[in-house]
Amino acid sequence: MDKILIKGGRPLKGDVTVSGAKNAALPILAATLLGMGTHRIANIPKLMDVATIKRLLIHLGAVITEDGPDGWEGQSGLRWTVRMSELARCDAPYELVKTMRASVLVLGPLAARFGEARVSLPGGCAIGARPINLHLMGLEKMGAEIKIEHGVVTVKAKRLKGARIYLDLASVTGTENLMMAATLADGVTVIENAAREPEVADLAQFLIRCGAQISGAGTDVITVDGVESLNGSGTHRIMPDRIEAGTYLTAAAITGGEIFVRGCNPRHLDAVLLKLREIGVEIREESDGVRATAKGRIGAVDIKTLPYPGFPTDMQAQIMALMALSDGLSVITETVFENRFTHVAELKRMGADIHVEGRNAIIKGVRRLSGAPVMASDLRASACLVLAGLAAEGETEISRVYHLDRGYEGIEQKFSNLGGEITRIRQTP
Ligand code: UD1
Repeated sequence: MDKILIKGGRPLKGDVTVSGAKNAALPILAATLLGMGTHRIANIPKLMDVATIKRLLIHLGAVITEDGPDGWEGQSGLRWTVRMSELARCDAPYELVKTMRASVLVLGPLAARFGEARVSLPGGCAIGARPINLHLMGLEKMGAEIKIEHGVVTVKAKRLKGARIYLDLASVTGTENLMMAATLADGVTVIENAAREPEVADLAQFLIRCGAQISGAGTDVITVDGVESLNGSGTHRIMPDRIEAGTYLTAAAITGGEIFVRGCNPRHLDAVLLKLREIGVEIREESDGVRATAKGRIGAVDIKTLPYPGFPTDMQAQIMALMALSDGLSVITETVFENRFTHVAELKRMGADIHVEGRNAIIKGVRRLSGAPVMASDLRASACLVLAGLAAEGETEISRVYHLDRGYEGIEQKFSNLGGEITRIRQTP
């Protein structure tokens, strides 16, 4: 398993171009299963999770060609042509689902188009139990019959029917699965307390280009008027990754540097920018991105993670690394996932002063962190350790970096270009 070695203590300076959003690319690629057509999708990030959904789509019958690099200002993203004709099968096997929970995104499209879907249950993961009961409840309301046997969920429905679905938690992939399923249902579906994440709106835009009738995506009530078939061909450019952008802006703050993140949409980052400004980071929104400039030591601040437009749980670990070096006491409250503090023990090994009580982490800022061997436990925890390593004195060796490869395109390269001393040690298993 590869490791990442960081020699910390250098202020990072320069420009970095944000990649396409993983969390938009995955549902949009899954949505191609809904009809017959040829889709041209650009700005696909080069990530392990994207490779996994590609394997899954090919397994189900898609033909995918890579049309080379994106060719947009310094972008390294991919352009794919996805050709979908008759589906070859309707199952998502455990080998694929276990490496990526988001494989569950094929459930809605398969059930809607095929009348049947068999998807292995994703199981628990490092950040909590993460059930899919809301996805299943919604499909049941649309008339599907659901069975769970031997770790596999089977959904059957001749044709899904429009329904009023209230989600008691605004699940992101749950909203996406149900919105996709509803595009082919008989009648109107209304999803209430829907997730408002920009990735849901990006998916809706793609579906509309394919012929779906959707309104309200991006708000908490989404209305979908089902159509007979979705045989249009969608051309789409995946939205920029707001979490990757937030991670690089935090890198400027934690290393005392200045970074311009090109290509991000500041409106997607409002909650993060507000907190960065509050602790004394200078944030400038420019026409093609956001610039963060550190101005001396940073202040402490309390943060609570919430569904969008609140502070994203996917930025909680990275901001904690920053708070570990603040002047004062901060409380970070994680309300979205029940076990998303696995990075705390590793930060403490680097000298951070953090105490966890239930869903609250109480962080007493220290003057400096010191490099240490640490272990990544999930995707965003890995990013937190990279940031801590870049700011720490001495050497940090991060193991289990495969988590990082699931969600950050070319992270060592991007940080090296900004002046970080970061290298990957390749190790064959
Ligand atoms: C998505 C993102 C992930 C992000 C998360 C929250 C993708 C591919 N992943 O994950 O990066 O961290 O949103 O912003 O987009 N829940 C239930 N029942 C369900 C579904 C969810 O109880 O059926 C709970 C979960 O356990 C969690 C909360 O709802 O506590 C939010 O989860 P959800 O929004 O579904 O996360 P994902 O869609 O899996």
